[in-house]
Amino acid sequence: MLKKDDKIFTNLDGKMSFDIQSSIKRGIWHNYKDNLKKSPDNIIDEVKKSDLRGRGGAGFSTGMKWSFMPKESKNGKPSYLIVNADESEPGTCKDRDIIRYEPHRVIEGSILSGIAIRAKATYIYIRGEYYSEYIILQKAIDEVYEKGFLGKNILGTGINYDVYIHRGAGAYICGEETALLNSLEGRKGMPRLKPPAFPAVIGAWGCPTTVNNIETIAVVPEILKRGADWFASIGRPKNTGTKVFCISGHVNKPCNVEESMSIPLKELIEKHAGGVRSGWDNLLAVIPGGSSVPLIPKNICEDMLMDFDSLKDANTALGTAGVIVMDKSTDIIEAIANLSKFYMHESCGQCTPCREGTGWLYRMMDRMVKGDAKIEEIDTIIELTKQIEGHTICALGDAAAWPIQGLVRHFRSEIEDRINSK
Ligand SMILES: Cc1cc2nc3c(=O)[nH]c(=O)nc-3n(C[C@H](O)[C@H](O)[C@H](O)COP(=O)(O)O)c2cc1C
Ligand code: SF4
Repeated sequence: MLKKDDKIFTNLDGKMSFDIQSSIKRGIWHNYKDNLKKSPDNIIDEVKKSDLRGRGGAGFSTGMKWSFMPKESKNGKPSYLIVNADESEPGTCKDRDIIRYEPHRVIEGSILSGIAIRAKATYIYIRGEYYSEYIILQKAIDEVYEKGFLGKNILGTGINYDVYIHRGAGAYICGEETALLNSLEGRKGMPRLKPPAFPAVIGAWGCPTTVNNIETIAVVPEILKRGADWFASIGRPKNTGTKVFCISGHVNKPCNVEESMSIPLKELIEKHAGGVRSGWDNLLAVIPGGSSVPLIPKNICEDMLMDFDSLKDANTALGTAGVIVMDKSTDIIEAIANLSKFYMHESCGQCTPCREGTGWLYRMMDRMVKGDAKIEEIDTIIELTKQIEGHTICALGDAAAWPIQGLVRHFRSEIEDRINSK
């Protein structure tokens, strides 16, 4: 369990004020000028040493990602940092509370991370529906400019830096980093082909760009203040630091909570979310990382550690750490069919396996819910998910495939029973 002193998001429950003065009293902006004057390589080395992995879903090493950015500007092109606050993954609302109650951590991180990648400015891309969060964040940015922590010649260091907010119009796909870049540029929010358009080479407005999740960015100042070793001492090797988990579904007290990476799933649910409704024995399954990842049944949940590598070993993923708990009252086939409908709706439609496949998946899932499918269709749907997985421009295709693969892997007999009883 995370020690009180190791918490980063000390106001995640919103009980304290979060204006600039209160934030400074809580340690945010502490040593800001010294951190600002650190060399980009120095910041990147520290973040690499901390083993921080991206909190947006894929868990890629943050320091490594930053090191792909050019050290020198080519053809006078500036670099940009984009902070991804699109958060649309079902079961996930961690970034919302980070913005709402810790806006100054987000802004401090947006500046220091931008300095690390030699960016000219940071753009925070926030989902359109987060209107009140946008207002809070903008107010905080205004306070920071007023204090002289942003703008021209910050605190006499000679550093110029700006942070802007860009509001999305409310499409799940715009959270995918290259769709986000298109949307930011005023184009349709559709993912770009990679290669050639890796953002570090051709990103926003054709300039080198790094896209990071907002939680990733918000923890960076704390790593610089308390040191990489401190961050790396929480969790376990390669799965370090603190993590904000969103626990929802059939628990007594749904919540967002910051915990140690690698906390056992059972402890997470029982200690922070008041346990499963009617007790642990009533648990059916958990989706551990937002709607895109395969579910795990109760027997696998028993000893599961909540981190990137343990969940990968169990054929699922930490994803966004949106923990969706389902008790035995759940129609598990219908629950996954519901997700299939979501992915069908959110497909941007530009590649065939996803555009056609997500609709096909949903129609088959709908038949399975009703027991109208044929037994052999269970193998057909798995074959279909394999035809989509890895054959699309972005990972939305994989996200549509994985929940169904998890369902069939662990609940095949339920689908068979439903078909047979019909
Ligand atoms: C369909 C789709 C939606 C995504 N939505 C989000 C999102 O809302 N927020 C986010 O941070 N990353 C999202 N991602 C992941 C981003 O593409 C990107 O990997 C991430 O922002 C990188 O940040 P990180 O390295 O800090 O994790 C999404 C990816 C896909 C394929
Ligand atoms: S996988 Fe789906 S969402 Fe992604 S680019 Fe292709 S059609 Fe669009």
